[in-house]
Amino acid sequence: MPEKDAEIILGIETSCDETSAAVLRGEREIRSLVISSQADLHSRYGGVVPEIASRAHLESLLPAVHEALAGAGVGYGELDAVAVTRGPGLIGSLMVGLTAAKAISFALEVPLLAVNHLEAHIYANFLRFEGLEPPLVAFVVSGGHTVLVFMPAHRRYQVLGETLDDAAGEAYDKVARHLGLEYPGGPAIDRLARHGDPEAIPFPRAVMHDGTYNFSLSGLKTAVVNYVNRQRDSGKPFSVEDVAASFQAAVVEVQVHKITRAARETGVGKVVLAGGVAANRCLREKLEKALEGKGIGLYYPPIELCVDNAAMVAALGWRMLKEGEVS
Ligand code: KG4
Ligand code: ZN
Repeated sequence: MPEKDAEIILGIETSCDETSAAVLRGEREIRSLVISSQADLHSRYGGVVPEIASRAHLESLLPAVHEALAGAGVGYGELDAVAVTRGPGLIGSLMVGLTAAKAISFALEVPLLAVNHLEAHIYANFLRFEGLEPPLVAFVVSGGHTVLVFMPAHRRYQVLGETLDDAAGEAYDKVARHLGLEYPGGPAIDRLARHGDPEAIPFPRAVMHDGTYNFSLSGLKTAVVNYVNRQRDSGKPFSVEDVAASFQAAVVEVQVHKITRAARETGVGKVVLAGGVAANRCLREKLEKALEGKGIGLYYPPIELCVDNAAMVAALGWRMLKEGEVS
């Protein structure tokens, strides 16, 4: 049921290479969501180039905001607050969104809600699933982060573990680049892996049984690069599909092991996935299977809410507004 007189919040996200604006009404009614991806601009470099990202945000942000407002059928005057990602992210990119959000909130005399990007990724789940409430375990996994957190209540977090080196998305992107695949590499590896044998190459499962909730991916990445170089140098053919499947299997096995243990040890009945890598099919399927019959529910947002987007920013902004946490 749509709430009467619910707050209308404009969300803005520019932390990395997606320029996004959204209009949210109340806790979870997405009136519009515009995501303008710069992936094409960065593709030839195999990764995000910060300076190019900032410039592209500058060009795309106001058109995205106007498109979001038009799509929602809302004028500037009807906005009750502006929520914007304050970090973590690329500093130049963040500044574009923050400056625009500050200017809009100042001009309209409405509250500014400065949002943590990782927390916003978790809130994409509350946006999507009505009735979903903490306590839960959240796995935030993206191009820049890999963290496992226990969330006892709204806006309360205890970090259980994180990556000791590369973020999962970063490892996917670097391996993909070495294989000559397009950027971003995660979706490409996910796609190829479906046609490969996950047991073809025994890549290492780092820190799998170290008793912590931490992750380590740089050794795995190096192992893949070394394998590919060895095959190429000796002129031996190899299957890109098998490499993708075996690499992905190594990443996912450790993740599933640690997430399942975290859910068991914290005694929560819910696990949520968040961030771009939460779109990974293998992770979803393997985790689903591991949690099956254990009375633990698995939640993950649809793809457009997994990747960087302004709707999740507005959703967290709504909660901060309710709690009076205005910037
Ligand atoms: O959350 P996000 O859009 O941006 C950051 O905040 O980093 O995540 C982007 C990352 C990229 O590294 C991309 O390769 C990865 O998410 N990714 C995937 C998949 N889709 C996106 N990784 C593995 N499998 C996927 N299906
Ligand atoms: Zn993100």
